Amino acid sequence: MQTVFFAKVPFVSVPVEVIKEIVKTLKLNEGSIVYDLGCGNARVLSIAQKIHPKAHFVGVELIWWAYMLAKLRIWKNRQNKNIKILCKNFFQVNVSNATHVFLYLYPEAMDKLLPKLEKELKKGTRVVSATFKFSQKQYTEKIDLHRDQNQLARTLYVYEF
Ligand SMILES: C[S@@+](CC[C@H](N)C(=O)[O-])C[C@H]1O[C@@H](n2cnc3c(N)ncnc32)[C@H](O)[C@@H]1O
Repeated sequence: MQTVFFAKVPFVSVPVEVIKEIVKTLKLNEGSIVYDLGCGNARVLSIAQKIHPKAHFVGVELIWWAYMLAKLRIWKNRQNKNIKILCKNFFQVNVSNATHVFLYLYPEAMDKLLPKLEKELKKGTRVVSATFKFSQKQYTEKIDLHRDQNQLARTLYVYEF
């Protein structure tokens, strides 16, 4: 485990009320392998696994205390079999087996991540990003979550790799 206290992208959980819409937008099935790169407390993965109990999920989190919160949540909800949490820098994790990726990061991090995703993701991998988009890749869909101006996560961007 790396002992990083804070990452350049802060730990802010995506609001709970938009998670079902995120899961719907991901379009998961039984064989899905879903990565949340920068998974925070793994709330998104935990809710997604309850909706799609046979899919598999990997959360990658750099800061150790958020990783511990994620592990605790998965352990408490008895989701260890389907959800793996890694305390790592996502730039050092190979994501080539992903069928779906969820991101809630920051524009700079998105752009740094794009070359890695383009190199590693299989054709057809679906990526859903809350709020932020890649500056160098066109999204296939933009979903307005109809939230107030002052609320977080008002838009989802969908990409097909
Ligand atoms: C905005 S939070 C989103 C948390 C979670 N995905 C959610 O939506 O609730 C971004 C997370 O990414 C993590 N993070 C930032 N850079 C990272 C990196 N290089 N590797 C792994 N995690 C990272 C941060 O520590 C933070 O917890």
